[in-house]
Amino acid sequence: MKRVLVLAAMTLGACEAPSEPRDAGADAPFASTTYYGEVRPILATHCEGCHVEGGIAPIPLDSYAAALPLAGRIAEVTRARTMPPFLADNEGGCNTYRDARWLSETEIATLESWARGGALEGDPGTPPPEPRELPHLHGDVRTLDIGVAYTPSTERPDDYRCFLVEPPATEDLYYVTGFDVHPGNARIAHHVIVFHPANDEAIAEARALEAMDETPGYECFGAAGVRAAAVAAWAPGGGATFFPDGTGVQLRGGRPLIVQMHYNTLASDGAPDRTRVDLEVATAGVSPGRFLPLADLALTLPARMEEVGWETTLRVADYTMVRTPFRVRGVFPHMHTLGRSLEIEVERADGSRSCLVDVPRWDFDWQMLYFYEGEGIEVRPDEPITIRCTYDTRTRDMETRWGEGTQDEMCVAGLFVTL
Ligand code: HEC
Repeated sequence: MKRVLVLAAMTLGACEAPSEPRDAGADAPFASTTYYGEVRPILATHCEGCHVEGGIAPIPLDSYAAALPLAGRIAEVTRARTMPPFLADNEGGCNTYRDARWLSETEIATLESWARGGALEGDPGTPPPEPRELPHLHGDVRTLDIGVAYTPSTERPDDYRCFLVEPPATEDLYYVTGFDVHPGNARIAHHVIVFHPANDEAIAEARALEAMDETPGYECFGAAGVRAAAVAAWAPGGGATFFPDGTGVQLRGGRPLIVQMHYNTLASDGAPDRTRVDLEVATAGVSPGRFLPLADLALTLPARMEEVGWETTLRVADYTMVRTPFRVRGVFPHMHTLGRSLEIEVERADGSRSCLVDVPRWDFDWQMLYFYEGEGIEVRPDEPITIRCTYDTRTRDMETRWGEGTQDEMCVAGLFVTL
């Protein structure tokens, strides 16, 4: 294992996206862009999954009256690509992703020209855009139920809770081919991660944590608090997620799962939550996929640095039983709140590099699984894979180390692979 602590700002050549012309569509006369004409269809497709009354976003954007005072801000956040939330760069320099929440340059330019042209209304008689059909699960769907109506503590803005739930299958082995989450209280359910405990010991530890905690479930921040692998990650606004065609994550039947809830209580109406997680399950006819971890537990970050990097190079053959080439189909990147960027690349025998993921602006609040469009990327188990993370540690007085706590950090990814 090779590891490097990088103190200076890094130049990240291989994963940089090609710079596209920034003004595509900008010559259109501003005054011709109207809410009902061009803007409403963009907001309906890309924003209203969250920006509706009762949704996770604090402000609705589903009417002219609601969008008008925010026209300038909408143009800014879409240009900065902080909205819609999608952390992996989807420009094409380092892959493109399935179901990417990604605005085209033209759409961004349209929102800008609307703002600059005075955020005109246009014709309210324009027929509304077709409602967006959200993907949904089919076949054998099994439900994980956290079992209680939980009211998060509003003393803190964020409450992270883990719930041990009944096994969804009794078969020896089964595959999760897709998942969907139905929040009990959509105002506060910010993200959900489902974990598969590594063994009986991990299950016993999770039970003990639950028993010790006075409120339902147990507190957990960076992961499940016990040895467990993430199998599903959900953020609001999208409908069902499917593993790439014909693949599924292989799990052991009879084993309870752990559902981690991240509640953001800023918009809480005080109502409890009982979130339901649906798993689409199959027991045969699936091409087995699994998550290979890329992690370096030695991570140590000096305090008070505006930008500090950590980089590790690993070979899958060195720490797994995988001996044959595998195909990376997707990535689950993960850091905590100091994280700023994350990149992964593979070094090929001929010296060339393949970029697996480029997350230029990490945001702990938006943890998602990113599946590639297309067939994925073949990697040999002896090829060096480098994961690079950067952090801003200015808020810390002491060294920050690897760990699951709120004061700890991580630089880790799960590669979703098929063998
Ligand atoms: C997946 C859910 C989701 C989607 C989709 C989404 N937003 Fe947001 N948006 C949020 C949340 C949640 C916040 C509150 C701040 C935060 O948590 O980042 C927010 C905040 C904002 C803000 C206020 C932020 C600020 O700093 O002023 C604006 C403006 C905004 N979104 C615009 C948009 C636009 C425009 C779109 C579509 C192009 C969009 N959002 C799509 C969830 C979403």
